Amino acid sequence: MAATQPPKLNPNRRLLIGPDTPEAPFPIRLNGQVVKGFGRGSKELGIPTANLSNDALETLTRTLDIGVYYGWAQIGNDPTVYPMVMSLGWNPYYKNEKRSAEVHLIHTFSQDFYGECLRVLVLGYIRPEQNYPSLDALIEDINTDIECAKVCLARPAYEVVSRDELFKGAEKREV
Ligand SMILES: Cc1cc2nc3c(=O)[nH]c(=O)nc-3n(C[C@H](O)[C@H](O)[C@H](O)COP(=O)(O)O)c2cc1C
Repeated sequence: MAATQPPKLNPNRRLLIGPDTPEAPFPIRLNGQVVKGFGRGSKELGIPTANLSNDALETLTRTLDIGVYYGWAQIGNDPTVYPMVMSLGWNPYYKNEKRSAEVHLIHTFSQDFYGECLRVLVLGYIRPEQNYPSLDALIEDINTDIECAKVCLARPAYEVVSRDELFKGAEKREV
């Protein structure tokens, strides 16, 4: 059986970025149902995303610039808190006419999350949104965002907030 290839990363980007402790306006806490996106994330990119509701989108755009962010997230009744990357913007590669907030949970799931409750703790900024000459270039940058999130979240002040109050609800529901 062929070994799985590690994802191709953008060699021009640093993985460890930003302050060693979350700084204002972070952390930002969000709680809402997952709505349907266009579905290209899973099919074309191999990077599925959960789209946030318009309410959550508005909360984010009041505070944050368009761009890519990282943090922690939890879905439905699963008590696990997963690292996440979030894209807030227009998806210029796909020429979307509406802004969206999409969260990719860094884990392989077998099902999708439509209608499930998603809790998100946004902790830091990664980069501005960009357009790309090819799908491969977009995928390479998203894979780099994912590695960047893992490295940034491993810092103690970011790791500790994976146990934030926001994530206690699902643990209680499990009992
Ligand atoms: C971490 C992350 C970063 C992204 N960065 C960009 C970007 O810089 N430019 C862009 O056009 N789309 C970006 N996207 C959005 C993808 O284009 C998006 O996931 C795709 O439009 C699929 O959306 P859909 O599943 O709703 O069809 C990013 C997505 C993620 C998860």
